[in-house]
Amino acid sequence: MNIIEAKDISVTFDSYGDIIKAVDHIDFVLPKGQTIGIVGESGSGKSTFARVLSGLQIPTSGSVTFMGSPIQTGKNTYQGALRKEVQMVFQDPYGSLNPRMRIVKAVAEAIRQHQGLDKKTSTKVALDLLESMGISNLDAQKFPSKLSGGQRQRASVARALSAQPSVLIADEPTSAIDQSAQAQLLGLFNDLIKKGLSIVLVSHDLGVIRYLSDYVYVMKDGIFVEHGKSEEIFNNPKQDYTKKLISSIPGHVIK
Ligand SMILES: Nc1ncnc2c1ncn2[C@@H]1O[C@H](COP(=O)(O)OP(=O)(O)OP(=O)(O)O)[C@@H](O)[C@H]1O
Ligand SMILES: [Mg+2]
Repeated sequence: MNIIEAKDISVTFDSYGDIIKAVDHIDFVLPKGQTIGIVGESGSGKSTFARVLSGLQIPTSGSVTFMGSPIQTGKNTYQGALRKEVQMVFQDPYGSLNPRMRIVKAVAEAIRQHQGLDKKTSTKVALDLLESMGISNLDAQKFPSKLSGGQRQRASVARALSAQPSVLIADEPTSAIDQSAQAQLLGLFNDLIKKGLSIVLVSHDLGVIRYLSDYVYVMKDGIFVEHGKSEEIFNNPKQDYTKKLISSIPGHVIK
């Protein structure tokens, strides 16, 4: 069963009189419990499409459904019971963390809001969640700017998970962090996959995509130039564009 389906999605931006087709009539499905990778060069439309799936960007055309129901009602998306179901981790973790709020408070507030727990309990749940993700109770008291890049990324994943979503949309979660922090984050995603979370993973790091994804969509100039099972895309890419992207994976192959 598909937990998310997107049909005929376009997004155009008007930039000082120029019309930019960031996303150009594309279809996409996320089967329940799977991890779908979206790869492509910078500016190909990955983040814009991810924002459409998470309801933050209203498409110029097309529609998205969650478990068969449209996510959009009027000008709003993911209303009522749907609100917690799809959570996004942003390319820039400052996008999901309030710089003036201590990490534990940001996560506890999300828990209180989505799980209806009181202040004390939500703080405890937040501290436990952060600790399970490698952020000590001491570090949890810090403001986002006082954490390392990797800790900040894990904190924004924690915040997204505190809604207990069934879908996580992660936009470049491993960019701007070093190798060991990246390995830690990959381990975390592996655990989430084992727990049955459905994930859309956007990255220009094909090593990461190959390691985590069941299925891959390759994006260029707002369209998907090819898509297929991960091993198909990596072992037998059809498009020159995909071959070029794959040949840019540094050194060894992860899987
Ligand atoms: N709010 C906006 N207004 C105008 N143009 C935009 C806006 N957001 C994105 N674009 C344009 O849409 C295109 C796709 O951008 P997008 O951020 O989706 O690319 P991306 O694939 O995520 O790139 P990257 O790998 O660098 O993150 C780009 O040409 C970008 O300049
Ligand atoms: Mg992007």
